[in-house]
Amino acid sequence: MTEPRDLAFERLLEFVRDARGFDFTGYKRPSLMRRLQRRMESVGLETYDEYRTYLEGEPDEFVDLFNSILINVTAFFRDSEAWEFLGQEVIPQLLENAPRGSQLRLWSAGCSSGEEAYTMAMLFAHALGDDEFRNRIKIYATDVDEEALAQARQATYTQKQVSAVPPDLRERYFQPVDHGYVLRGELRRCVIFGRNDLLQDAPISRVDLLVSRNTLMYFEPDAQRRILSNFAFALKRRGFLMVGKAEALQSRTDLFEPFDLKRRVFVRNPGAELPMRERPAVPRLEPETDEVEGGSLTAAAFEQAPVAEVVVDPTGRVAALNHGARLMFGLKQEDLGRRLRDLELSYRPIDLPSSIEQTAAEGRAVRIPDVAWPSRNGDRSLDVQVSPLVSSSGEPLGVSVSFTDVTRFRGLQDDLETARRSLETAYEELQSTVEELETTNEELQSTNEELETTNEELQSTNEELETMNEELQSTNEELETMNDELRERTDEVLRTSAFLSSILANIHQAVIVVDRQLRVAAWSRPAADLWGLRADEAEGENFLNLDIGLPVGELRTAIRAVLTGDEPEDLVVHGHNRRGQPVVCTVSFTPLRTFRDDVEGAILVMSAEREDAAV
Ligand SMILES: C[S@@+](CC[C@H](N)C(=O)[O-])C[C@H]1O[C@@H](n2cnc3c(N)ncnc32)[C@H](O)[C@@H]1O
Repeated sequence: MTEPRDLAFERLLEFVRDARGFDFTGYKRPSLMRRLQRRMESVGLETYDEYRTYLEGEPDEFVDLFNSILINVTAFFRDSEAWEFLGQEVIPQLLENAPRGSQLRLWSAGCSSGEEAYTMAMLFAHALGDDEFRNRIKIYATDVDEEALAQARQATYTQKQVSAVPPDLRERYFQPVDHGYVLRGELRRCVIFGRNDLLQDAPISRVDLLVSRNTLMYFEPDAQRRILSNFAFALKRRGFLMVGKAEALQSRTDLFEPFDLKRRVFVRNPGAELPMRERPAVPRLEPETDEVEGGSLTAAAFEQAPVAEVVVDPTGRVAALNHGARLMFGLKQEDLGRRLRDLELSYRPIDLPSSIEQTAAEGRAVRIPDVAWPSRNGDRSLDVQVSPLVSSSGEPLGVSVSFTDVTRFRGLQDDLETARRSLETAYEELQSTVEELETTNEELQSTNEELETTNEELQSTNEELETMNEELQSTNEELETMNDELRERTDEVLRTSAFLSSILANIHQAVIVVDRQLRVAAWSRPAADLWGLRADEAEGENFLNLDIGLPVGELRTAIRAVLTGDEPEDLVVHGHNRRGQPVVCTVSFTPLRTFRDDVEGAILVMSAEREDAAV
C-alpha cells in the first residue's frame, strides 16, 4: 500500500524540480514527507497528486513549500563548545599555517540567516584585530534560501538572537538599533552572501576553513557523498572542515582526517584522491582571474568578448568576426572577406545596411534595442549597436556591429515588473486589511459603547432593586410594629372578653345581649341553665326566632324601644323553664352603648321564679 504513495511523492519532487529547478530528490525522505504533509494540511489537501495539481494552479504556493522544507533554525555560537574549540585550536593553527599577511578564505555553506558566518567573523576579528581582519579575511556565506540570505544581508537581529553572543563580543561588534542590534559595518563588509545550491552548484574554491553545520544531515547518503567531495575540492590542502555535532562524514572519511572528532572538525586529507570531475566551475561570488595564453591580447579579447561582434570595412565586406558572432549567427571563418549584403546577417535579425548607412551619415553609434532573435535555446532579445570605427588620424576604418544578449536583463525587468505589481497588490491588500481593521475597530468601539450603556442600565436597575429592597425592609418593619400593636390589642380584647365572660358567668340572673338586628351576641350560663339552650346554639341566631320556653315575641316592643334609646319598664312574662315547669320571668332592658354613646344593642336581664313557688 505504501508503494503507490511513495511513487506519487517522487513524482511530486520531480515536478518541483522540473517546474522550479529546485531539486529536493537528494533530501532525506522522512523529514521531507513530514514537511510536505504539514504544507498539504495547511492547504487542506490529502494526496501528493492533489498537491501537485494545486502547485500547477497556484505558483505562489512554491514559496510556502520551500519555506516549509528549508528549515532555517540557527543561532550565534550555536553549540558554544564547538565554537570555543574553533577559536582556541583551529584558528591559531590556520593562522600559523598560512603565509604571513596572506588572505584567508572562509566558507559558511548553508548559512541560513547569517549567524554562523558572523560568528566566524567575530572569532577571526577577535583573533586578528580589526585591521588585519579587514585586510586578510574573506568570508563567503551561501545558502539556497533567498529569503534567509536577504535576512542575513540585513545583519539585524533581535535582542533575544544576540543574547547568545558573549557580552564582550556583543559590545564590540553590535550596535543597538530600534528593537534589536545591527552588526557593525566593518565586520559586515567582510562577509559576501550568495545563493549556492550544494547539490547543483559548483563549490567556492581555495577555501581555508569550511563551516557547514546542521545542513548535511538533511540529505540522503548519496547526496551527502557528492556534497562532501565538493567540499574536498573546495578546500585547500590541509584546509579545515567543521560540521554539526550530529553529523558524521560516514563514507567520505577517506577525503578527510579527523582533527577533533568530538567537535566534528576535520582536515582535508592531502593524500586522498579526489574523484574525477570537471575543474570546479568559476564560483558565482567571485570571478577567478584567468590568464589568456597566446596571440595578441587585443585579438584574444575581441574573440572572447561576451557579446557577438562583427566588423565591416568601408567597402561593405566582413573584416572580423568573433566567437560570439559565429555561435549566434552560424557564421564561419570563411565568411571573412565576403560582402555583408551576401550574408543572411545583413537582413536578419535587422536590416544592417541601412543602420550602417545611418552610422556613416551621422558619424555616431546607432543603437537598436530589443531585437527579437529566435534561437535554439528559445527566443532571445538582443541590443544591437552599430559604431563607427575611425583611425587615430580620424579616417573612417569601417563599422563594428555588436549584438548584446539582454534576454536575462529583460527577464529581470519582467520579474521586476511582476514584483512591482505583486507589491502593489500586497499594498492594496494591506490597505484593505487596514480598512477592515478600522471597520472592526469602529464596530468594537460601538459594541463597547453598547456594553457601557447596558452596564449603566444594569447599574440603574441594580440601584432600583436596591431601593425596592430598602423600601420593602421598611414596610416590613412597619408591619412588624403594627403586628406588635395588634397582638397587644388582641391580648387586651381577650382579657376584656375573659373579664366580661367572668362577670356574665357570675351574675345569677340570666343575661342575654342582642345586637341591632336582634341577633344573640351573648348568652350567659344562667340563661342556658334557665332555657336549656347552650350559648353556642343561641349566639348568632335571631332572638325572636328562638324556640325556648319564653314567649320571646312579647319582648319585641320593649327591645325595639331600647334600641331606639328608650329605657322601657321591666316586663313580667310567663313561660316554662328547661324542665318544662311554669315560671314567672321578670325581664329588665338596658341599652348596650358604644364608647361614643351610640346604642349598639340591648341587654336583657331575666330573673325567673317557679309559678307554684310564687303563689
Ligand atoms: C538548519 S539550517 C543550518 C544553519 C546553520 N548552518 C547552523 O547550523 O546554525 C540548514 C540550512 O541549510 C540550507 N539548505 C538546505 N538545502 C540546501 C542546499 N541544497 N544548498 C544549500 N543550502 C541548503 C537551508 O536553507 C538552511 O538555511
